[in-house]
Amino acid sequence: MTDRLIFDGPVILGAGLAGLTAALAAGRALVLSPTPLATGCSSAWAQGGMAAALSEDDTPALHAADTEAAGAGLCDPEAVALLTTEGPGAVRALAALGAPFDTRDGDFTLSLEAAHSKARVARVGGDGAGAAIMAAVIAAVRAAPAIEIRERARARRLLQDASGRVIGVLADIDGRLVEILAPSVILATGGIGGLYAVTTTPAEVRGEGLGLAALAGAVIADPEFVQFHPTAIDIGRDPAPLATEALRGEGAILRNSDARAFMEDYHPARELAPRDVVARAIHAEREAGRGAFLDATVVVGGHFPQAFPAVFEACMSGGVDPRRAMIPVVPAVHYHMGGVATDLDGQTSLAGLYAAGECAATGVHGANRLASNSLLEAAVFGARAGRAAAAVKAKGGPPVLLEPLPDLPDAALQALRKAMSRDAGVIREAEGLTRLLAEIDGLEAAHGLCPTLIAARLIVDAALAREESRGGHFRADFPETGEAVRTFVTLQTESAAVR
Ligand code: SIN
Repeated sequence: MTDRLIFDGPVILGAGLAGLTAALAAGRALVLSPTPLATGCSSAWAQGGMAAALSEDDTPALHAADTEAAGAGLCDPEAVALLTTEGPGAVRALAALGAPFDTRDGDFTLSLEAAHSKARVARVGGDGAGAAIMAAVIAAVRAAPAIEIRERARARRLLQDASGRVIGVLADIDGRLVEILAPSVILATGGIGGLYAVTTTPAEVRGEGLGLAALAGAVIADPEFVQFHPTAIDIGRDPAPLATEALRGEGAILRNSDARAFMEDYHPARELAPRDVVARAIHAEREAGRGAFLDATVVVGGHFPQAFPAVFEACMSGGVDPRRAMIPVVPAVHYHMGGVATDLDGQTSLAGLYAAGECAATGVHGANRLASNSLLEAAVFGARAGRAAAAVKAKGGPPVLLEPLPDLPDAALQALRKAMSRDAGVIREAEGLTRLLAEIDGLEAAHGLCPTLIAARLIVDAALAREESRGGHFRADFPETGEAVRTFVTLQTESAAVR
């Protein structure tokens, strides 16, 4: 038995920074959150902060140049210019909402992070930016009378009319299936970390928006580009806690078990080399049996509990006292540069469907996201998508009848995660990717089509097709960088015939 609800504004799937910023910008919105607010979204776990040209010696153009250099030739310059120009205003808007950014004498205190030419990362309490920003935004959303929130609500299918226009969503709300019809839908479902065995993102974040949009026929961009954070804390926790890049910005050193500062063997910028370079260096040291550790004993030492409280707490919970001991680190899936292709207002290739935040591919990140550009993107493009989706008044035709998609059973999900980390990880090659595709075929044959498997297939197909190495995508069998061409795909499996 399916209930029906007709809503007169955008329905927003996801309640991280992009989703809630979109809701505030839209004014009237229905937000579906799979978990209670502030839990289960990657935004609240962000440590570093928000990058923006906020100091006198910085400019949006310099920020744009760093963003494009990190993106390794695949950024959309128009999207990057917009992100970096609107960046300072987005940070100030969040501060005005109550996000307690660190300041000194009325100015933002700004940190340096890898591949930034200036100190431009606005932080909160050392490593608490995400949680503090989300607390301020959640308070604003709760105080907005025209924004409705449903927690424990998961999308099971996008609803379309016969023309393909997205006209709502089939959702599971607290165990009841509800058909929600609305003028527009905004995907803000986050990334794909939960598709991998080692990730820094919440377990709930596993490519659902990507899978649902692809199944509806939306164009997907750059799915092969997955960012591995070099320094997740390797204490056997799933998800793995993060040791923020700001630690390397402060001068923390990467060492192997011989205490050798190994980054000098890999890149002239050493610890502040681009993220993909540092991740591959750590992977290589670990594969060679030498291990990898972050040594902040000198540069942070006794100040750890005050300077980086979240990292300190995570280390101590794993029996590592970072004031005195090196922190064992491992690369972990942290961010998806690819996603549902959008224009600068979050419009996807499907009428009525918008996307913002990590699940969107606006073109700002290219092949490799610059550190601390993700919360910024969520705020800037979330607001733009919210305004654009709220302006949609057109009503579609009646919904084509569709079955809800199931979740992948847990044992199968764990098998998929292991296989993705093994074969679509920091280093990829054709043999492993081909084996992985066969495993995904097998899981689909056994369990049916589900968003998680669709998302995994998109990543792996595109990783196999890209016969070069660039940014977050490294092919051992094609180590050179080729021509700079973005990937744009629509779902091409027999399963797509179910549409
Ligand atoms: C970090 O604090 O290292 C993460 C920041 C980011 O991913 O942008």
